[in-house]
Amino acid sequence: MQDTLAPAAAARAALPFAVPASRWDDAVAATLNPAELLLYRSNLLGSDLTVTNFGGGNTSAKLAGTDPLTGATTNVLWVKGSGGDIGSMKLDGFATLYQDKLLGLAAHYAGPDDDDKMVGFLPHCTFKLNARAASIDTPLHALLPFAHVDHVHPDAIIALAASSGGEAATREIWGGRIGWLSWKRPGYTLGVMLRDYVAAHPQVRGVMLAGHGIICWADDAKACYDHTIGLIADAARYLNAKLAGKPAFGGQVVAPDANRAAIVADLMPRLRGLMTGQILNFGRKLGHWSDDAEALEFTGSAHFARLAAVGTSCPDHFLRTKIAPLTLDPARLGDDAYLAEQLETYRAMYAAYYTRCKRANSPAMRDSNPVVVLVPGLGRMTFATDKTTARLAGEFYGNAINVMRGAEAIGEYIALDEQEAFDIEYWLLEEAKLQRMPAPRPMVGRIALVTGGAGGIGAATAARLLADGACVLLADRDEAALDAVGDGFAQRFGKDVIRVATCDVTDENAVQAAFDMCAREFGGLDILVANAGIASSAPIEETTVALWRKNYDVLAEGYFLTARSAFPLMKRMKAQGGASIVFIGSKNGVAAATNASAYASAKAAANHLARCLALEGAPSGIRVNTVNPDAVIRGSKIWDGDWRQERAGAHGIDAGQELEEHYRQRSLLKRDVLPEDIAEAVFFLASDASAKSTGNMINVDAGNAQAFTR
Ligand SMILES: NC(=O)c1ccc[n+]([C@@H]2O[C@H](COP(=O)([O-])OP(=O)(O)OC[C@H]3O[C@@H](n4cnc5c(N)ncnc54)[C@H](O)[C@@H]3O)[C@@H](O)[C@H]2O)c1
Ligand SMILES: [Zn+2]
Repeated sequence: MQDTLAPAAAARAALPFAVPASRWDDAVAATLNPAELLLYRSNLLGSDLTVTNFGGGNTSAKLAGTDPLTGATTNVLWVKGSGGDIGSMKLDGFATLYQDKLLGLAAHYAGPDDDDKMVGFLPHCTFKLNARAASIDTPLHALLPFAHVDHVHPDAIIALAASSGGEAATREIWGGRIGWLSWKRPGYTLGVMLRDYVAAHPQVRGVMLAGHGIICWADDAKACYDHTIGLIADAARYLNAKLAGKPAFGGQVVAPDANRAAIVADLMPRLRGLMTGQILNFGRKLGHWSDDAEALEFTGSAHFARLAAVGTSCPDHFLRTKIAPLTLDPARLGDDAYLAEQLETYRAMYAAYYTRCKRANSPAMRDSNPVVVLVPGLGRMTFATDKTTARLAGEFYGNAINVMRGAEAIGEYIALDEQEAFDIEYWLLEEAKLQRMPAPRPMVGRIALVTGGAGGIGAATAARLLADGACVLLADRDEAALDAVGDGFAQRFGKDVIRVATCDVTDENAVQAAFDMCAREFGGLDILVANAGIASSAPIEETTVALWRKNYDVLAEGYFLTARSAFPLMKRMKAQGGASIVFIGSKNGVAAATNASAYASAKAAANHLARCLALEGAPSGIRVNTVNPDAVIRGSKIWDGDWRQERAGAHGIDAGQELEEHYRQRSLLKRDVLPEDIAEAVFFLASDASAKSTGNMINVDAGNAQAFTR
């Protein structure tokens, strides 16, 4: 993401479709058994984003297997199971079913009303007790009399499938080799339609499924892979020829805004704060912004308003993006009343759609807030209950944009019928799956910023929040340590949930930039852990003005600056339960210390600042509390430096083992205090478990009578 992109030339040619090329390696394939070959083909297809979007599509092979009871050789359908992604799946991602039992299911089928009933029979066809559930697409593969079958939804194919000109284009590109079936929701009936169509058209080697994707087949794994790749390449080349030299979507009418990064940083927290509705308790949203070429081309185009209103067509897209995006007028973004009214209108539109389409046994209406928010000049924002879902929704809308570009190049883009869309969104069997999902972890949906996040206590705190589902931005002035800690967290918790910002908390502009980044990258802020700190030791007569100021700059002014930048973001969360600021104070902020007056009095200033802010923040739902650590030696970089020597000197002991023992023995509980212990107290104060507490202090020091609060 760049802050300044030159506005695209008004007549810039449309973005082209990627033309996939075969990545099959005979040397690799030669080492694989038939099931592994199916996996190899699946992974090759799924990891190529020009072929299929995340999770999209499924592959199958009918292979010989040995019946564990009879020892007889039997025909087994290996088909990608429910859930997962063909790009990254392993062999255990395939469901295995007796092919003869699957064919026998025809006896239970009387017509389209039996689709849901047929799903219930699939587990009875399982081969070798395989625990992987068979997906809704299993009948498509089972009912086709071919050994190897691929079903994918690449943009170039859906562009044909979702265009008024798609059927004609299919004939033009492939002659009679690829057939065309009108829209039918995935399920057993679609499998029957496909089987009958292929029986009636023996020359076809694949079938376009209108509004959906393509299914094709071959006699061996390599031929099937090449066939699939070849069909996608044919479609992409055909569309590129149609698009060549012309701007997409009627041409650009709004140029990318050079200031878009700043505008989005301001806008996202306001939208997030307003994403409540008739139905509350959907938890907080995570946001994701993209100003990629597709998003800017589409949102800035002449046909944007018309096409955005049509919504997404492919079920794969639409389940992620909701029936339609919310579009906003870039000229009115500064007006909160306008944003609130737009969201209200969207929720009313969604509720009306639910009421129009619901059936007697439909599940209750779900969250009515928009997932996709589009603004000309800014691009695409997406909101969901976690960051990965928000990012994926954005990527799926990017796919939908590609589909619209291609579909409009050969005819008119066609949306999915509303009732069909509803029946997929509120499909009872999907609802059952949703009901079985474990309750989300307590920090899912929360966004935290941790200063000094590359240090001992900061990193432990971030890990604690991440482990329970929060998204975290680490801010620290130590760039190398920050990158190392950030990379470690990305490996442990996934890239989506962690960001880092190099920032000195004494630099007003750098602090604001870090908070802006948090707003832009995650959508707002719920938790601030003000922790960046130093320690110094000197008798009063040897305390220089420079040393005094250094302590006050980091520990008093740094806490002030970060809290000040947090407030406007946090105020947006009032309607959703508020926000929490946690200051890392010190035992020395409450108990007097020898030879550390600059440090201890600066910590006391921070402690009192927390109480002032608790008072000021309460009307906005902002809680402010303090955790006072003491003697956290292990893991802390403060204790790597001079502080260790100075403290040892002040206590008249050796700076090694003796020091740790000294602090242990000095504590009432005679125990070490670890960064994880501090993190646990911060977690409590950051979470709803402490929702009724503000202006408090928790000492985490293994017990120190001097520091008892009163
Ligand atoms: N370790 C203890 O015994 C102890 C006791 C009481 C209070 N504390 C407080 O806990 C907090 C964390 O300390 P720690 O023990 O984890 O130390 P640490 O040195 O391991 O971590 C502190 C982090 O803050 C960063 N930092 C320092 N100045 C900064 C600035 N101006 N801008 C941005 N980042 C800056 C450092 O780069 C470091 O990564 C500090 O506020 C400290 O005063 C620690
Ligand atoms: Zn499909």
